[in-house]
Amino acid sequence: MTVTSESNTVFPRGLEGSSYTDPAVYAHELEHIFAKTWQMVGHQSQVAEPGQILTAKVGSEGVIVANDNGTVNGFYNVCQHRGHELIPTDSSGSEPLEALTTSGLAGTSHSSITCPYHAWSYNLGGNLIHARGEKVGDICVPPVRVETMAGFLFVNLDPDAPSLADTIPGVEDKLLAIAPDASERVFSYRRTHEINANWKIAVENYNECYHCPNVHKAFSAGVVTPASYRIHPYGNTIHHTAEAPSADKVAYERSGAEDANDYGSFFTWPVSSIQCYPGRVLNTFRWVPLSVDRTLLLREWWFANSEPTAEQMEIIELDWDTTVSEDFELMDSVQRGVSSRGYRPGPIINDPSGVATVHSENSVSHLHGLWREAMAGNTSGG
Ligand code: FES
Ligand SMILES: [Fe+2]
Repeated sequence: MTVTSESNTVFPRGLEGSSYTDPAVYAHELEHIFAKTWQMVGHQSQVAEPGQILTAKVGSEGVIVANDNGTVNGFYNVCQHRGHELIPTDSSGSEPLEALTTSGLAGTSHSSITCPYHAWSYNLGGNLIHARGEKVGDICVPPVRVETMAGFLFVNLDPDAPSLADTIPGVEDKLLAIAPDASERVFSYRRTHEINANWKIAVENYNECYHCPNVHKAFSAGVVTPASYRIHPYGNTIHHTAEAPSADKVAYERSGAEDANDYGSFFTWPVSSIQCYPGRVLNTFRWVPLSVDRTLLLREWWFANSEPTAEQMEIIELDWDTTVSEDFELMDSVQRGVSSRGYRPGPIINDPSGVATVHSENSVSHLHGLWREAMAGNTSGG
């Protein structure tokens, strides 16, 4: 459905309220979106050495990525005996509940994973190697696909999906142009927040800056130049660009990379984004759906060093206290609004150029298009 503005621009309408509130829609999404698309789970530096293990969530599914003697494997985090998680984690999937010590996995050199329930053990390819001395035949945990983009690890549960490179063509080159050492970065810091809203409300909020002048004063005034903000939706990618303000107006010290003043963010449908702040400050967003109306945000930072410096911590805290947390109450409020009998899908303000600025939100209708396609069973794997 569309609506015509006074200037005769045709604005598409947003999604129906039930898209954000109906558990049956959410179940369909898990099947048709989260089980078929590439989702970022971390960085290759986290599994660079033989024996290193990473856990994560892909939609509602727990996965393990492990370096087995130099080969990086992905498989479900599910014991093939009676279904215990091989490595129990928190709700983000990224923090093992135990420090991997009880099953002998402490440190960074693990040769096997032992299920905490009945102590069956598996090698880092997901093959059962020991069932308490019983002969139970060849058993292997179902694999998942793992591919990388500029060093970041993505997982796809669909064996028939197109490759990551075919899904988001050109993104790696564009990211490396503003973050040339992305592949060498390491995990430095993670902060999480549970949003009381459907995952689409979170990624719609992230992908438009129509609200920035009204809500994000620090971002608008101190990280980028608002007039230069552009959001380019294409295929499975939403590419945000902006210029940095001059050094005397910037909200933080951009030491070390005087030639690296561009802001770029590469959102990959449906729930991953890699972002580079001026000064080559590399950070990511992951959104993990917990239920139809709850979403966990993982905000992660990737520096050359594994412990943020005091200066890096200042950037992390400034970002969280302003740009990131300023959105929390907005998203929770939108969830309450779209749950109301009084909600009608409104016009989405699209710029005729197809590129959004701080005065338009083309990227939101682009997301709605991707969602409709995927829910109709026409996903392109992105
Ligand atoms: S469920 Fe894993 S060993 Fe029994
Ligand atoms: Fe925001």
